[in-house]
Amino acid sequence: MSAQPAYKRILLKLSGEALMGELGFGISPPVTSFLANEIKAVVEAGVQVALVVGGGNIFRGEPLAKAGMDRITGDQMGMLATVINALALQDAIERSTGLQARVQSAIRINEVCEDFIRRKAVRHLEKGRVVVFAAGTGNPFFTTDSAAALRAIEIGADLMLKATKVDGIYTADPKKDPAATRYDTVTYDEALSRRLGVMDQTAMVLCRDNKMKLCVYDMDRPGALMKIVMGDRSFGTYVDA
Ligand code: GTP
Repeated sequence: MSAQPAYKRILLKLSGEALMGELGFGISPPVTSFLANEIKAVVEAGVQVALVVGGGNIFRGEPLAKAGMDRITGDQMGMLATVINALALQDAIERSTGLQARVQSAIRINEVCEDFIRRKAVRHLEKGRVVVFAAGTGNPFFTTDSAAALRAIEIGADLMLKATKVDGIYTADPKKDPAATRYDTVTYDEALSRRLGVMDQTAMVLCRDNKMKLCVYDMDRPGALMKIVMGDRSFGTYVDA
């Protein structure tokens, strides 16, 4: 492990569910504060950090879609949910770490936050600010994982991290199959062909075609993010070419 971070700029994808902690719905302040402090450590080590957050803790489209709701309307509601989460993260980062944060939204909602402007996002990162990308890609039919892959590529991140509840990618669901084993590394093509379920195929193909290295790790482990950015490969599963 070197004393210098192994990555200069990372994009961290958090699911909306990650923010609700034990609550079952909404946003848990202890969780956002924990995440803010994990992020603070890596920013202070000199790493530029961008975030993409989902919205499933506030709104899930499937039940309404099953009941007949228009898919596009449902997806737009989901995008608005991610804006709420992004604002909560911005607040937690600024209040509990003293870092600066900026939310940029893929849909225009100027009274609330900035629009997504790639060059401005990069400028914020260079100034040590945490940039939270909200509203997914701004389009229906795309997941926040696809948004994360897209933004990671656009800002020239060295690594995209996907924070999950398990410490990497397994041969099968470790909660259901005790014989499942964790991969240290896997190629994009293996992840795609074996349908390992870590991200949707659109997001995975975007990463593959643009050589965006991905690390899937357990966000609940204190210090794991820091270890990963310092180059410790014993945490998580890496997906690359
Ligand atoms: P630099 O001056 O370039 O270093 O960046 P800055 O973000 O500090 O300056 P800017 O003048 O762009 O923004 C000042 C504050 O206004 C920041 O908190 C921004 O997030 C916020 N801000 C900038 N543009 C918008 C916008 O379109 N909508 C909203 N709601 N806030 C904005």
